[in-house]
Amino acid sequence: MRDSFTATAVTHSLATRWLGQTCQVLPEVDSTNDLLKEQVRQGPFEAPPAGFVLLTDYQRQGRGRLARRWEAPPGSSLLLSMLFRPHWPAEQMNWLTMLVSLAAAEAIAQQTGLEVGIKWPNDVMVRQADGWHKVGGILQEGDFDADGRLQWAIVGIGINVNIPADQLPEGITPPTSLLAATGQAVPRLPLLVAFLERVESLYDGVEENGRSPHAAWQNRLINLGQPVQVSYPQTGRSLHGMAEGTTAAGHLLVRDDANQLHTITAADVTLRQN
Ligand code: BTN
Repeated sequence: MRDSFTATAVTHSLATRWLGQTCQVLPEVDSTNDLLKEQVRQGPFEAPPAGFVLLTDYQRQGRGRLARRWEAPPGSSLLLSMLFRPHWPAEQMNWLTMLVSLAAAEAIAQQTGLEVGIKWPNDVMVRQADGWHKVGGILQEGDFDADGRLQWAIVGIGINVNIPADQLPEGITPPTSLLAATGQAVPRLPLLVAFLERVESLYDGVEENGRSPHAAWQNRLINLGQPVQVSYPQTGRSLHGMAEGTTAAGHLLVRDDANQLHTITAADVTLRQN
C-alpha cells in the first residue's frame, strides 16, 4: 500500500490547537531532523514556529540513536520531526521523548488493536507471537539557553507502518512493521493524526498542569522486572542486572548481579531472554 498525503490534508484532519497546524510534507530529504535543525538555526525571523512538523516519504540518510541509520522504503512509513520550544529545565529534557513514545504507543494500539510497549529509552515495540519487536524509534535533539533551560528541541520519530516483512531493516532489536504484525496495510494519515493529537495533549498536560508523563510512560515499559543487558557501544562495556525502575527524569535503574544499583542515562538495553 502506498498512501500519500499533503500538508493541507494533515492540517485539515488534525483537531490540535498548535501541533502540526504548520507543517511541510516533502517527497524526499536526507533526514527530517537534520533539515529541521537547519531551519531552526536560520534565526528568529525565518525559523519555523513551535509546533511545526516536517514530514517526508523517504529519507536518504535517516538517523537513529547512537549514530545508527534509520531506513524505510519510500512511502512505507511515518517519518517526521516536530519542533518544540519548551523552556523546561534540563532534568525534564527526557520528558519529551517519554511523552512522544507514550503517544506513539497509545495511537498505534488504538489504530491497530496491537499490544504496544516501550523499550527503554525510546523504542516503540509491538508484541507478536514470538515476542516483542521494534516498530518505531525516537531521536531527540536540542539546545539549551544561558539559564540551562531547553531553548528548542526537535523530536524525530520513525514508525514502520507498511514495510513488507522481507524488506524490514536489520537491527539489534528484532524489527517489525504494522503491516507485518497485523497482516494488513494500515493507512498512515489516521495514525499520524491520532499520534499528533496525543502528543499535544500530553505536552499541554506538562505545560499547563505540570503533569509528568512519567507514570503512564513507566506503565508501558517492557523492561521493568526483567533481566537486562546494558551495553555502551562507545566503550564496548556492558553490565547485567535487573531493571528495577526509572527515575523522574526517565533514567533506568538497574541492579547488577553484585547487588549494586546503577542509574543508566544512555545505552542500549537488551531484554536478556531475547
Ligand atoms: C532510533 O530508534 O534509534 C531512533 C530512530 C529515529 C528515526 C526518525 S525518522 C524521522 C527522524 N529523522 C531522522 O533522521 N531520524 C528520525
